[in-house]
Amino acid sequence: MTISAEKSPILKDSGPLRFPEGFVWGAATAAYQIEGAARDDGRGPSIWDTFSRTPGKVHAGHTGDVACDHYHRYPEDIRIMGDLGLSAYRFSISWPRIQPDGSGPANSRGLDFYDRLVDGLHGAGITPIVTLYHWDLPQTLEDRGGWTNRETAERFAEYAEIVHARLGDRVETWTTLNEPWCSAFLGYASGIHAPGRTEPELSFAAVHHLLLGHGLAAGALRAAGAGRIGITLNLSPVLGDDAEAVSVVDGLQNRIFLDPVLRGEYPADVVGRAGRFTDWSFVREGDLEIISRPIDLLGVNYYNPQTVAARTGEPANPVYPGSEGISFPRPDVPKTAMGWPVQPFGLTDLLVRLSRDYPGTPLVITENGAAFDDVVEAGQVHDTDRVAYLDGHLRAAHAAIEAGADLRGYLVWSLLDNFEWAEGYAKRFGIVHVDYATQQRTPKDSALWYREVVGRNGL
Ligand code: FCB
Repeated sequence: MTISAEKSPILKDSGPLRFPEGFVWGAATAAYQIEGAARDDGRGPSIWDTFSRTPGKVHAGHTGDVACDHYHRYPEDIRIMGDLGLSAYRFSISWPRIQPDGSGPANSRGLDFYDRLVDGLHGAGITPIVTLYHWDLPQTLEDRGGWTNRETAERFAEYAEIVHARLGDRVETWTTLNEPWCSAFLGYASGIHAPGRTEPELSFAAVHHLLLGHGLAAGALRAAGAGRIGITLNLSPVLGDDAEAVSVVDGLQNRIFLDPVLRGEYPADVVGRAGRFTDWSFVREGDLEIISRPIDLLGVNYYNPQTVAARTGEPANPVYPGSEGISFPRPDVPKTAMGWPVQPFGLTDLLVRLSRDYPGTPLVITENGAAFDDVVEAGQVHDTDRVAYLDGHLRAAHAAIEAGADLRGYLVWSLLDNFEWAEGYAKRFGIVHVDYATQQRTPKDSALWYREVVGRNGL
């Protein structure tokens, strides 16, 4: 598939903006969301295979069994990225392809797939950016407690070492975890995501063991000579007039991850407030030194800010354990198909805050994008809402750079429409449309627009 120049939508004329030289432009995906081939070449079951088969957990009973069939169609997907002129592609490795039951020797057929993918990317001039964990924990490890069990952190570091041993000669940039907030609080507190547990007390142990896994893996990667090491967090500025409500949610969304990784300590207010759930005895001597090993980049996933207000009698929001008395009003602004508010200024605020409060770590936007109800008309998808969303957020990112933020790159979520977790295939985030019946890929107007942005390094 090639993209013809005539199909390009006209860039909005809101004044030219140039990004710094060498700015990285790319797209992101995750293994379970696109690969399919759930039983090929010795892959073991992950918590998402189990969860998606549990009635009522995922929209319409959708699973990742086939997804975008990227496992077989990756050459076409690389061609599409090449046509778009992308300089980088962030994808995740499926742990259960590499270690079907989460420990022990590598399944070389699983590694072979990523070998082919990485070689194909280099062949197209695209830099691979590897995420080691994007939520597909081997089910066997969950059966032993998952991230509530300290052992999982140790297994994760061994897995990281195995993957690096195979790909480290061709992959320079490594991110350990994607969004540990979701793994811990959606997976173990609210149960909205796999493994679907609703044990807020244990979600804090999950936070810690995820971070410990990050630190141990970062140490293993560093010892093995990895080029650049980072972690990706989903961060949200928290808005509202009530300082206490803002601080509670900011603590649980942002600082509980940022502070241990970048300052070597859990924030005292978060530790104190979570005291009714846990005594934090899972934090052992030396853990925070491991967790705060220096990293080379911080991956930032940004979708929207959180707006909060104090409201007596409000029950806790299950994704923020201990948030009683806080409501989450929906701001009166345009929303995406996920119902998420479109507020690009939040990205500027976030990047500027990170540079101010946690200086010295280069930033990369590892995800940003939006779901809309796209339709294919005569082989085209006129997703003007998505173009406007991306345009607004790139302007916001540029404003942060002008204000001094050390932002090195932008990876749009997502290259392809894909399995959007609990929403199944009902929500489309791709800049390339996927017809799940035929597996046909159709670049949306946003893809053609993005190609122009990439080509001119700006807007
Ligand atoms: C993020 C996830 C990603 C995708 C987007 C919409 O939380 O990392 O896999 O689902 O949201």
